[in-house]
Amino acid sequence: MSVKESQAKSAGTATLTYDNKSYELPALSGTQGPNVIDIRKLYGDADIFTYDPGFTSTASCESEITYIDGDAGILRYRGYPIDQLAQHSNFLEVCYLLLYGELPSAKQASDFDHTITFHTMVHEQLTFLFRGFRRDAHPMAVMCGVVGALSAFYHDSTDINDPRQRVIATHRLIAKTPTIAAMAYKYSVGQPFVYPSNDLGYTENFMRMCFAVPCEEYKVNPVLAKALDTIFILHADHEQNASTSTVRLAGSSGANPFACIAAGIACLWGPAHGGANEAALNMLKEIGDVSRVPEYVSKAKDKNDPFRLMGFGHRVYKNYDPRAKVMRDQCYAVLEELGMHDNPLLKTALELERIALQDDYFIEKKLYPNIDFYSGITLAALGFPTTMFTALFAVARTVGWVAQWKEMVEDPQQKIGRPRQIYTGAAARDYVPVENR
Ligand code: SDX
Repeated sequence: MSVKESQAKSAGTATLTYDNKSYELPALSGTQGPNVIDIRKLYGDADIFTYDPGFTSTASCESEITYIDGDAGILRYRGYPIDQLAQHSNFLEVCYLLLYGELPSAKQASDFDHTITFHTMVHEQLTFLFRGFRRDAHPMAVMCGVVGALSAFYHDSTDINDPRQRVIATHRLIAKTPTIAAMAYKYSVGQPFVYPSNDLGYTENFMRMCFAVPCEEYKVNPVLAKALDTIFILHADHEQNASTSTVRLAGSSGANPFACIAAGIACLWGPAHGGANEAALNMLKEIGDVSRVPEYVSKAKDKNDPFRLMGFGHRVYKNYDPRAKVMRDQCYAVLEELGMHDNPLLKTALELERIALQDDYFIEKKLYPNIDFYSGITLAALGFPTTMFTALFAVARTVGWVAQWKEMVEDPQQKIGRPRQIYTGAAARDYVPVENR
C-alpha cells in the first residue's frame, strides 16, 4: 500500500491546564486554514476527552484534496478555485484532478475518459434488483440499495489492501453511479432502461440514459449538457461534510468501497445535507408567489417555528457559498436556453434571496444561499423530477467520496474511527426483579 507522509508542519505547542496540572499539546499547521491542536495523546496523558458534538471545532483527518474558507467564501479542488474549474474544465477532468492531485495531460485525460466510459455498463443481473422496488420508491432509496449491492457483483474489487482493486473499484463507482441513477429514474417512470452509449461524453451519456426512449432518436442539447456537467463539477467534493465523513468512517473499518459509498448516499439523503435541493424547490413551490415571501421569511426567523429556509445557511460558509454564484449563472443559462426566463420559481427565489440578504436576522447569523438554493430550479428545468435532485448530487459527489476514501486508505495515520462520549446516564445499580418494580 502506497504510504503517504504527513504534510502538516509543527506550529508550536498549546498548554492545557486542568485540575491543577498542565499538559503540552503539539500544534500543527497545514498549507492554509486554521492550525490544529493535536490531542491524540490527551486521553492517555490526562484521562479526559474533548467534547464537540457536530464536530464544529474538530479536524478529523489530514487531507490534500479540497480547501474551504467559509468566511472568505473560498472553495478550491487541489488548489484550483471552483469558479475557474466551472468555467474552463469538465467533470471527468475534475474527477481526475480530485483523484490524482493534478490536472491531466491530454493523453492522461483521454485514457481516463476511455476507462470510465468502458465501465459505464452494470452487470445485467442488477436490472432484476430493481424489480424488488415499488415504482414509487424514492430514487435515493434505490441508489442506497443498488450501489451497496455492487459489492455482491464486483467482488473482485473489494480488497481495499490491493491497490489494483482500489483503482478498479474507483473507476467502477464513478462510471456506474450515473447509470444506476438513470435506471432509478427510468424505473420510477415506467420506461425501459437505456444502455450507456460509448460514443457520448459522461454527462451527455447520463442525460441520454435518463431521457431517451426507444421510439425515437435522442439528441443531447449541448447547452443543457454543459450546464449539468458544470453542476456536477460544483457538487464533486466539499472537504469533510457529513456524507464524506460517513464514507471515511465506514472505510476506516475496512468496509469495501461500494458499501462505503452506499453509506455516503444514505447520509447525503438528509434534508439538512444533500436533500436540501429537493427541499428547497418544494419550499419555493409552497411559497408559490413573491407576495408570500415575507410571510416565509418571518417563519424562518421564528424560533418557535421549525421552518427553515432550505438552501440557506451552511456549517462552514458564513459568506456567500461560491458554488451558489456559479449555480445561479447556470440556472439563468438553462432557463434562457429553454425560453423559461420568466419562471415563477426563479422569481420567488430571487425575491427570497433579495429580502433575506438585507434582513438583520440572516445577516447576523451569516445565512447566505448555498449550492442547493438554485440547483433545484435548474434541475427541474432540465427535466428531472424533484425526487431525482439528491440522486444527481450523489452522482456528482461519488468522485469526492471515492477520492477521500482513497486518501484515507492510503493514510498511515488512519485507524478505525471510534469517538467516545460524555456519559450522563444512570450510575451503577443492581437488577430489580419484576415483582419488586
Ligand atoms: C449541504 O457540509 C457541507 O459541506 C455540506 C454541503 C456539501 O457540499 O457537502 O455544502 C451540502 O449540505 C449544503 C447545506 C444544505 N442544507 C440546507 O440548505 C438546509 C437549511 N440549512 C440549515 O439546516 C443549516 O444552515 C445547516 C444544517 C446547513 C447548517 O447548520 P449549522 O451549521 O449546524 O448551524 P445551525 O443549524 O446551528 O444554525 C445557526 C443558526 C441557528 O439559530 P440559533 O439556534 O443560533 O438561534 O442559524 C439558524 C439556526 O436556527 N439557521 C437558519 C437556517 N440555517 C440556520 N434559520 C433559518 N433558515 C435556515 N436555513
